[in-house]
Amino acid sequence: MTGKKHFLALLLCLTAVLLIAGCGPNESQEAPESDVASAYVETVTAGKDIVQQANDSAHAHFFREMVALGPEGVQAAHYSDNCIGCHSAVKMLDDPDAALKDFFPGGKYEDRLEGISCRVCHILATEEGITLRKEGWAVCGDCHTAQGRPVLGKEVHHPQNEMIRGFGVGEVPDIPSYKCFNMIDFTCYDCHTTNAVKHDYMVPGVTVTEDGVTQMDYEKFSEVLKQPRCISCHQIVEDTVQSVKTKQEYIRQKLDELRPLYEEWGEKTAAMDPNDSRVKTFGEAATYFTYVEADSSKGAHNYELAKALLAKAEEKFKELQ
Ligand code: HEC
Ligand code: HEC
Ligand code: HEC
Ligand code: HEC
Ligand code: HEC
Repeated sequence: MTGKKHFLALLLCLTAVLLIAGCGPNESQEAPESDVASAYVETVTAGKDIVQQANDSAHAHFFREMVALGPEGVQAAHYSDNCIGCHSAVKMLDDPDAALKDFFPGGKYEDRLEGISCRVCHILATEEGITLRKEGWAVCGDCHTAQGRPVLGKEVHHPQNEMIRGFGVGEVPDIPSYKCFNMIDFTCYDCHTTNAVKHDYMVPGVTVTEDGVTQMDYEKFSEVLKQPRCISCHQIVEDTVQSVKTKQEYIRQKLDELRPLYEEWGEKTAAMDPNDSRVKTFGEAATYFTYVEADSSKGAHNYELAKALLAKAEEKFKELQ
């Protein structure tokens, strides 16, 4: 009961803030929903239906590719049975005790190499049709997470959730992203538009090359901001697109500058006495650097935090030189 009251109070404050900021939704500017949906079909789904899109995605493929590495390949990549808790539908939904060995030839689940399939995100047959198992940021953020605050000295993996929440680490303070802290009902899939026509989970305009490099077409990206619930605030779409572009260019360039240093000092420190002070300095630089590198959005999720982390990484790499 009190939880609900708090929520309402927060919502009221928020509405007030938005109104004062002149950023409240404005009904008269909304484009008809059906026009927007058909624009998506043409520009960002390449004419594929949602089942085809989902089946072509890395979500659907990844687990099969992982198992194809075989027992030795998987061991070399440091997989443990816990790792597949975010990768295998069987482990997530049917059998929490499922182990990696069950999925190799001869194992009891050798025929069930189901990755992140429909039922991982959805409950398929309900009275309201197809519904989501989770809500809000958790729909995507429960897997795309470093599973807590990054730890100084350790490398960071898929920290999209932490980046958006704005968790600082070491000498970098918390810097929450605008969307996570000012827009109570915003989610990952508002930008990574996922709906009845789009299910490739990518931000419109993003494609992935054969070797896994993502490319952004800013012209197509602008479609995302033309959705009825965005255009009310983002009235001059080009301005937001230009702003994202400029920020991404800066972060991409910094990452390219620091990556050779990260690789060089990774090799050097691996051969050093663990008590050498440079081993510790490198560990810290690696945390700051991999936090931004592994988030993979090149600053789109939280530019201010990404910039601050890379500035610290640069400082630490300079100490090493
Ligand atoms: C909390 C959920 C979760 C757990 C636990 C997890 N992963 Fe992942 N894994 C992900 C997500 C999400 C991605 C996609 C990352 C991206 O594209 O940014 C991923 C991607 C990967 C990739 C692809 C390469 C990459 O980094 O994009 C590898 C390899 C991988 N995981 C290995 C592992 C290993 C090894 C473990 C256990 C030590 C593990 N995963 C545990 C969620 C998880
Ligand atoms: C990674 C998570 C994820 C996976 C996997 C996934 N979906 Fe979805 N799906 C979503 C999200 C998020 C939405 C948007 C829900 C909303 O806006 O309330 C959605 C919406 C839908 C909708 C529209 C529902 C409505 O009420 O408008 C349908 C239909 C749908 N999904 C079918 C599927 C099918 C079929 C598959 C498998 C081929 C699938 N989804 C796989 C996350 C997922
Ligand atoms: C059950 C865990 C899980 C959930 C839920 C999940 N993801 Fe993923 N995501 C992964 C894994 C695993 C990968 C594949 C890693 C790879 O191949 O590099 C991935 C990859 C991705 C990629 C990169 C795809 C590529 O081709 O490089 C994007 C973008 C993405 N997810 C967005 C989302 C969005 C948006 C949602 C919510 C609608 C979501 N994910 C929900 C685990 C998850
Ligand atoms: C404000 C819009 C926005 C929100 C909110 C957002 N993303 Fe992103 N995301 C982007 C953009 C833009 C990129 C960069 C695309 C590029 O340049 O390749 C990106 C990149 C990514 C990538 C790297 C793969 C790729 O497409 O380049 C993953 C994985 C990802 N986001 C997952 C998430 C998850 C999980 C959440 C929620 C916790 C989230 N995003 C919330 C806009 C957003
Ligand atoms: C209530 C007003 C409001 C709505 C509605 C809104 N936004 Fe925003 N958005 C903002 C503000 C204000 C900022 C700028 C925050 C800042 O400067 O850090 C922003 C920033 C962004 C950015 C990052 C821009 C940059 O310069 O880095 C993206 C991407 C974005 N919004 C996408 C969306 C999408 C997609 C939707 C619809 C699903 C949406 N927004 C709906 C107010 C809104």
